Formats: sequence, structure tokens, C-alpha cells
Amino acid sequence: MLQLKEDFPLLKEKIKVYLDSAATTQKPLCVIEAITCFYKEEYATVHRAIYDLSLQATEKYEGTRKLVKKFLHAAYEEEIIFTKGTTEGINLVAASFGKAFIEPGDEILITAMEHHSNIVPWQIMARERRATLNVVAIDANAEIILEDFKKKISSRTKIVSVAHIANSTGTQNPIEEIIEIAHSYGAKVLIDGAQSAAHLEVDVQALGCDFFVFSGHKIYGPTGIGILYGKKELLEKMPPYQAGGDMVDKVTFEETTFQKLPLKFEAGTPLIAEVIALREAIRYINSIGLKNIAAHENALLEHATKKLLEIEGIKIIGTAKKKGPILTFVVEGAHPLDIATLLGLRGIAVRSGHLCAQPALAHFGLKAATRASFALYNTLEDIDFFIASLKEVLLALK
Ligand SMILES: Cc1ncc(COP(=O)(O)O)c(C=O)c1O
Repeated sequence: MLQLKEDFPLLKEKIKVYLDSAATTQKPLCVIEAITCFYKEEYATVHRAIYDLSLQATEKYEGTRKLVKKFLHAAYEEEIIFTKGTTEGINLVAASFGKAFIEPGDEILITAMEHHSNIVPWQIMARERRATLNVVAIDANAEIILEDFKKKISSRTKIVSVAHIANSTGTQNPIEEIIEIAHSYGAKVLIDGAQSAAHLEVDVQALGCDFFVFSGHKIYGPTGIGILYGKKELLEKMPPYQAGGDMVDKVTFEETTFQKLPLKFEAGTPLIAEVIALREAIRYINSIGLKNIAAHENALLEHATKKLLEIEGIKIIGTAKKKGPILTFVVEGAHPLDIATLLGLRGIAVRSGHLCAQPALAHFGLKAATRASFALYNTLEDIDFFIASLKEVLLALK
């Protein structure tokens, strides 16, 4: 099993057990130092200036793009767009792809387990383009019902947008199959990788997905930075999302021409320090290896699931065969907010509430649940402490 707490200053000092990594991960020292070092010793803007400091900053900044290209196994650097996060990536695609490709009467397909960020942008776009948003049903294990997917997809479906791993239930979706079926109808596919990028190896070329989005802060990197991967030929046909500096070529009052990819989608002074520090986060992940990370987290999930099921009155929400390191549960007679509050008092950070997936929880007749999510720094001792504390908390609440 991995033992990596030492790399995370906050885990050593402030918090006993951090089980909220699906919301955001803690940061290793190398990421924190990359940010401070950049501001202390290397700070300058990128792309526009030709003095040394700016040239060096640009090289580092673009170095992250090169590394992300490798991380996702993309074909071209231009396919890697820096965004603010998964939410912005999906909004960008919904708005820009919508303008370029969605006609009245067209259809957009999502699933019933999506995060709000993968519902609302499509809802808004569908309304604007007079298209229809359809939703694929999920079953009692929170697995996608493939028969329903096959029933709901049609030649009118222009895009399918689906989570790789669902943040509320942990379900790992059969995206290979989904992509293949979607493409056979001529639909494009966006994979919401917010919950998978830190846990699974992603090869966008092998998958064949048209878009893949994730957030830096969920893969041990800084907040405020995310990645949109898009196939070059598609991104080239899509209009800019935001307008301003950096994304333009020639500007007159009459007309403006835009930069080529990727800058066409990166308006304004970017999040330079965050982009540079994201490189350290990816290097950190690579130094451990995603295969080792997945094996470690699967062992944690298996152990925690077994222990949790020993507690009377517990119901696990999300019992798919393939899951990410997420364990969502409810307990008869104990409110999720109370559970999370009392665990918090014992130094255990878990999430409770609607988990930004109200429709997914509604599928289980719930408004709220408690979620424990694991990352590479968690240990079996963390899980045992969490379970023992949960037992105490439930005794106090019942
Ligand atoms: C599956 C999924 N999609 C989208 C998001 C939104 O990510 P962000 O808030 O970083 O933009 C999250 C965050 O929890 C998520 O888990």
C-alpha cells in the first residue's frame, strides 16, 4: 500500500483523516512550492512580451500543455485548452459546439447520474437552440441502463455528455461502449473526467472521445485551472467562447480575426501560476503511476465497503460493479448533515448534502447523503479510524 501523507503538509498537521477528495484533493508540497517559487522568483506574463522573464514563463506555461498532451495521449498540443475547470470546459463546449452544430429539433443526451455541471450547461444550450435534452436512465445499482441509451440515441442526437466516474455514486461508466454507439449515430461525445483523471489512465485517442474535461484541483493541482481536450478538427470549426486579449489576431473596429488553436479559446491573461503548478501535480501523479494509484485506491474502497456494510441500517448509494474510490451512504435514523458534523468534530472530513447531483440522489428517493471519497494519500488506518468513528457517531445519534 502507498504511504504518501508525508508529501502533503496539511495532512501531516491539520487534519486527521481527509475523505473529501472527490470535492477537491489536498496539495503535495511540490505543487505548493511551484506556486510560491513562480511568484517569488519567476513571475511575468506569458505569450506577449519578449524579455527573458516572460520568455521563461511562457516556456514553463507551454510545458504544462505538452505534459497534459502526453497525460491524455492526445495527438496535438493544440487540442489542449486551458480552462478554469471542468465546469468551464463543459460550458465552453455546450455554448460553442451548440452554436456551430445544434439546430432546432436536435437532441443532446446525458445520463441521470450527472453532476449539475454536466446538466445545466446543456439545459441552457438546448433552450437557446430549441433542441431537446434527453436523459438516459440508471438502475438500482446506479449503473447506466444501456438498453435505454440505445433507445434514446438517434440520428438527431448531436452530442452525448457523460461522466467517466459519477461523483455521487462512484459508478465508472462503460465509456468505450458509449462512445462506439454514439459515433455509430454520428453523435459526438464529451467525457466528464472530473472524477477519473486522478484515478485512471486516460487515452483520448484510444477512446476516440471528441472532448474530455477535468479540473486541476481534483488531481492534486491548484484551483482555478482545468483542461478541455477536444479533437482538433472539431475545435477548429467551433467559434470562440469568450473574446478579448490573447485570442485575437487582427482587431479593427469593423472586424476581428482570431488566433489559431489553442489560443482561440483562451481569452485574457491566463492563470499562469496555476498552469505552471499543474505541471508539478501531473509529474507527481506520474512519479507514482496511475496503475499503482488505482490499485491502492481500489484496495481502500474494497476495505471500506466491507467494513461499512457491517454497520446496521447502512445503505450504500451506488453499487456498480466498476467504481471509482467513492463511497456514498445513508443510515436509517441519522441525518447525513449530522453524521458529517460529528465526524468533522473527530477530525474526519467527509461530504454531505446533495453532492451537486440532485437528480441522481432523487433517483434513490434522497435529498442528501454522506460521501467518503479516497485518494492516493489515504491509508487502511484512515478507513479503520473513519469506520470506528462512524460507529460512535451513529450511537450518539440514534
Ligand atoms: C463529475 C463532476 N463533474 C463536474 C464537476 C465540476 O468540477 P469543478 O467544480 O472543478 O468545475 C465535478 C466536481 O465535483 C464533478 O465531480
